[in-house]
Amino acid sequence: MCAPHLYDVDYVINPWMEGNVHSASRERAMEQWRELYDQLSLVAEVVLIDPQPGSPDMVFTANAGLLYNGEVAISSFFHPERQGEEPHFRRWFEEQGYKVLDLARATPFEGEGDALFSGDRTRLWVGYGPRTLESSHTFLRDAWDVELVGLELVDPRFYHLDTCFAPLEGGYVMYYPAAFGAASLRKIEAFYPEDKRIIVAEQDAVRFACNAVNIGSTIILNRISNELLAHLNSLEFEVVQVDLSEFLRAGGAAKCLVMKLE
Ligand code: ARG
Repeated sequence: MCAPHLYDVDYVINPWMEGNVHSASRERAMEQWRELYDQLSLVAEVVLIDPQPGSPDMVFTANAGLLYNGEVAISSFFHPERQGEEPHFRRWFEEQGYKVLDLARATPFEGEGDALFSGDRTRLWVGYGPRTLESSHTFLRDAWDVELVGLELVDPRFYHLDTCFAPLEGGYVMYYPAAFGAASLRKIEAFYPEDKRIIVAEQDAVRFACNAVNIGSTIILNRISNELLAHLNSLEFEVVQVDLSEFLRAGGAAKCLVMKLE
């Protein structure tokens, strides 16, 4: 994770940031982030990267890259506004002893924000469209021997895969169907049987319910409806809701603020 000491909405690169430039309270952001950090620390070891001047979105560490068997594919950000984060993330991973893979600038890829393993890790789902482009899928397939399946993102509000799709423990998936192209939706439905699909309604989707951190039976996410809460509870998940309103202004919530390390 990366603390929000330098967090701000400085520019507009997704629909959520529109009308929110410089509207976030850094003090409230700090409190909300702290609560997420504390809750996560109960179920995982959390390590930090220092925020850097000029990179206000660096709090969203899910976009640092994608980790697989000790190798990390560093993001190649679509927007110039975030490309300055790349060397900072690369240095951190190098210092920690990870092998670093670089994608070309011409091959946009936004890391774990757009690439998520199924709960059993047999399949890598990679979103494409708004940020990550399909050309990066070839790079990942060549680098790693993984079964990679692309998912087309068609709603600009759900511009990263982790904003509308969350593979969960127990073979479940929580997702917002309208965010996907028809062929991609069929791929999801072919992989996850109906009783494993948790369909999120629009009112929860726009509060980033799918942007959930799942560790064991614990799910940490922004505030959700009682209906969705009851559904997740009925599947034996322990749900921890953390108000992340200050980060929604930049188009992110719980999962965006965390990158999972091995
Ligand atoms: N403002 C950031 C952007 O538009 C938010 C990133 C959210 N991260 C995520 N993994 N969905 O890039």
